[in-house]
Amino acid sequence: MDELRNTYIERIAKAADEAALEDVRLQALGKKGEISLKMRELGRMDPEERKTAGPALNALKDEINSAIAARKVALEDSALDERLKTEWLDVTLPARERRQGTIHPVSQVTEEVTAIFADMGFAVAEGPRIESDWYNFDALNIPGHHPARAEMDTFYMHREEGDARPPFVLRTHTSPVQIRSMEAQGAPIRIICPGGVYRADYDQTHTPMFHQVEGLAIDRDISMANLKWVLEEFFSAYFGTSVKTRFRASHFPFTEPSAEVDIQCSWQDGTVKVGEGDDWLEVLGSGMVHPHVLRSGGIDPDEWQGFAFGMGIDRIAMLKYGIPDLRAFFDSDLRWLRHYGFSALDVPTIRGGLSR
Ligand code: PHE
Repeated sequence: MDELRNTYIERIAKAADEAALEDVRLQALGKKGEISLKMRELGRMDPEERKTAGPALNALKDEINSAIAARKVALEDSALDERLKTEWLDVTLPARERRQGTIHPVSQVTEEVTAIFADMGFAVAEGPRIESDWYNFDALNIPGHHPARAEMDTFYMHREEGDARPPFVLRTHTSPVQIRSMEAQGAPIRIICPGGVYRADYDQTHTPMFHQVEGLAIDRDISMANLKWVLEEFFSAYFGTSVKTRFRASHFPFTEPSAEVDIQCSWQDGTVKVGEGDDWLEVLGSGMVHPHVLRSGGIDPDEWQGFAFGMGIDRIAMLKYGIPDLRAFFDSDLRWLRHYGFSALDVPTIRGGLSR
């Protein structure tokens, strides 16, 4: 009995993992285990012998069982210790800094522009960036042979050979939204449409994708005088100072008469300041909506008239915030974004831009 006991206590102590321990248990107490077989022999013993062997075997069985249970706990503990040694974590380390994102100048300026025009009663309208060439050109009085189509360096959508659908373009300006708004709501109209536009052009002041805001006001007696007032009101609100404007006679197929508008500025060491100096910066095209265009939008030109303008959002963002190179707007350089970006709390106000 003692030999049996010593053998198994030693084997239990030597079991290196739970599987080995289970093997030992089966050897001793399994159906064909050594101790189980011994217990079966009890039946063949005479009663006297059985009286001492029975309790002794039961006691041995209990001892083995609790030795196994103790060894099991010990094995689990050392496995846990092993894990804790490798999966070590210093909870006192300071957390990694989380950078806050910024509002891109284009988004910020779009909000500022929208707030100022909303105060003058203009609602916001939108249109698709992929536009049919009818909305982008024909409806705006730019027929197929018109040189303006070539001038605009248009991106055309790919067409498979033999695909006879009319061509689609990446809109070259926000003016197609004029037509969509006329169709959607009829006269009178007072809207602005900010959004991205595309032209194949790339240098310090041109990128293939940029942003415009279109303005359109149609009523029975709207004139160039209203256009001039609205724009001057806008610029002084936007720049927070009185800004001289220069209206130059120009030509657009979709307006008659047409004017390009410059604002007064100065250049010093590559930085530009608006509202001083004797340089001029062109910021928009404008004019009285051409009767052909009103008709394309389903509006009777004998009853209604109005003005339209298209302004470069990126351009006026550069001017207000002294950003020298347009290309950097769309480089996604985090250093640039952190420097020129806005906090989410810089909520635009109607006068002078920011509330900070
Ligand atoms: N669509 C013109 C452009 O992109 C700007 C413009 C809009 C001019 C409305 C007149 C009227 O250059």
